[in-house]
Amino acid sequence: MKKIIALLPGDGIGEEVIQSAKQVLQTVAKQFGHSFVFPSYDIGGVAIDRHNTPLPEETIAECKGSDAVLLGAVGGPKWDQNPSHLRPEKGLLGIRKQLGLFANLRPVKGFPELLHASPLKEEVVKGSDLLIVRELTGGLYFGTPSERRDGGRSVVDTLSYERYEIERIVDKAFQSAKLRRNHLTSVDKANVLESSKLWREIVDKKAAEYPEVTVEHQLVDAAAMKLITNPTAFDVIVTENMFGDILSDEASVLTGSLGMLPSASLREDGLGLYEPVHGSAPDIAGKGVANPLATILSSALMLRHSFGLEEEALAVEEAVRVVIEQGYHTADLSISNGFIVNTTEMTSHIIEQL
Ligand code: NAI
Ligand code: MG
Repeated sequence: MKKIIALLPGDGIGEEVIQSAKQVLQTVAKQFGHSFVFPSYDIGGVAIDRHNTPLPEETIAECKGSDAVLLGAVGGPKWDQNPSHLRPEKGLLGIRKQLGLFANLRPVKGFPELLHASPLKEEVVKGSDLLIVRELTGGLYFGTPSERRDGGRSVVDTLSYERYEIERIVDKAFQSAKLRRNHLTSVDKANVLESSKLWREIVDKKAAEYPEVTVEHQLVDAAAMKLITNPTAFDVIVTENMFGDILSDEASVLTGSLGMLPSASLREDGLGLYEPVHGSAPDIAGKGVANPLATILSSALMLRHSFGLEEEALAVEEAVRVVIEQGYHTADLSISNGFIVNTTEMTSHIIEQL
């Protein structure tokens, strides 16, 4: 299989973790007989420095013409005082929007060896393995009007959805559940919000197309509580943009480190943008100690969701699991046992496993 993978390293540790993921993908290509090419483009602070914009036209055009996009991270103190159109984060929001990436997938999986790195009780987080499917281009964050009124005496935000927007994210979630443990929890606020009532109707209707998937509805406040008291009860969660934003940060505490969490942002035709959940980590940038696993696991999501290469994706995930089982971890995981390795060493261990 021939694929063009656009790399957007961005700022800080972005460059370091992207190099790791690229090497892992090159190894996968060699092992499984594929041909991947990796053109690289500027985004974020580095693009501001070179082109005076966080999202150059060339970057947008080349990403649109590629088969998938792998992003590192953007941002840093150097650009913190810039006016808002010259902020690195504008580049990230811009590329998601330009590419129409409506489905944000965040798998959250606790590794047995890292359980005590979570602030939650070991017996609670043990075995947690869930996927949050968050609607990314609609809902409360994009509804209009969103404005101050009457000279600031009142304000309005709008939670609005077209039926097709709910249908496509719900369908994505059912498909995801089918590939996992066949259980879907739809999270809403249907006791209050009209948009949630429609959301529920669409989920129930869609359920008929997926008889193997069991469906459960939860109100978002109850779901927030159950996520940290009984996380193993979840398989796939599907929810509105803002609910998903909040719940996915909450779920990240199950795993112990930001440096472990991958994400995928997709649209219907398979084009996707893959990135670690963490940021550019200016405090450790350039030191060669960043945890590359979130980005490596993001590249596994790329193999699965954009290229349909399930076997290859599983091979990468299994390599990560084995290396952690062997006791190797980067310094961000505050656990006392095992061996601390740097970015290059961690990458070599993964490649060796592959
Ligand atoms: P951050 O995620 O960059 O760092 C938070 C803490 O976690 C830091 O102590 C950092 O050293 C550590 N950390 C993060 N990723 C790590 C990794 N892979 N390995 C080891 N340690 C890791 O978040 P922070 O500090 O709030 O933001 C720093 C910059 O990144 C800001 O400019 C922010 O706007 C930007 N940012 C960008 C994101 C993106 O590009 N998607 C997401 C979040 C923040
Ligand atoms: Mg957030």
